[in-house]
Amino acid sequence: MTSKFTHWDEVYKTKDHEKVSWFQARSTISYDWITESIKQDDAIIDVGCGVSILADNLLKKGFDNLSLLELSTTALNACKDRLKSYHGKLNFYNENILDFEPKTTFKLWHDRAVFHFLTDPNDQQTYIKKLEKYLEKDGFFLLATFSPEGPKQCSELDIVQYDVNKITQLLGDQFKLINSTSEAHPHPNGMTQHFNYFLFKKV
Ligand SMILES: C[S@@+](CC[C@H](N)C(=O)[O-])C[C@H]1O[C@@H](n2cnc3c(N)ncnc32)[C@H](O)[C@@H]1O
Repeated sequence: MTSKFTHWDEVYKTKDHEKVSWFQARSTISYDWITESIKQDDAIIDVGCGVSILADNLLKKGFDNLSLLELSTTALNACKDRLKSYHGKLNFYNENILDFEPKTTFKLWHDRAVFHFLTDPNDQQTYIKKLEKYLEKDGFFLLATFSPEGPKQCSELDIVQYDVNKITQLLGDQFKLINSTSEAHPHPNGMTQHFNYFLFKKV
């Protein structure tokens, strides 16, 4: 077991899942951009899904090819349990995205508040190589990170804040930015956290 696994699994074992800082009662920008960008039978992966409600929202809308990847077994089991009535429309991967070697590709790769935990440039490049390999041509990369106005840490871990310039330079020419926006996410403790959302198309 890696220390990252232990850290995240402990979070989901010990905290109320609706009180974690990244909790959303409804997936807002992600849901809107996904439903506008792809067809209901296109393959979607939610990387570091946690216990996010995004899958529930998409399955209710008729999307039927979802993959959920998560490091924490506790979080992924909570998703499996909650979504058991959607059997056959979901694939589950209990692993580190940096080790991901699927036998399939995806039309849309969603990451809300996961990539920004990669502070080591080598890990960032490993992630981007996975993205390049497993995202289909003309597929979408929907990324949400803390913005430069947002926190410098989450769950007691350092994060990297991104704006349009920083993320487009890091991703390189293979990804064309087609949309970006900001969100003041309401923290369950009453404060706000500033996120940036980016939608890229793989060219
Ligand atoms: C801040 S939470 C966001 C959860 C979810 N994306 C959401 O928006 O509700 C970050 C999540 O990423 C997961 N995670 C962190 N590093 C990971 C990695 N290297 N591979 C897979 N999952 C990871 C954590 O376990 C945690 O569930």
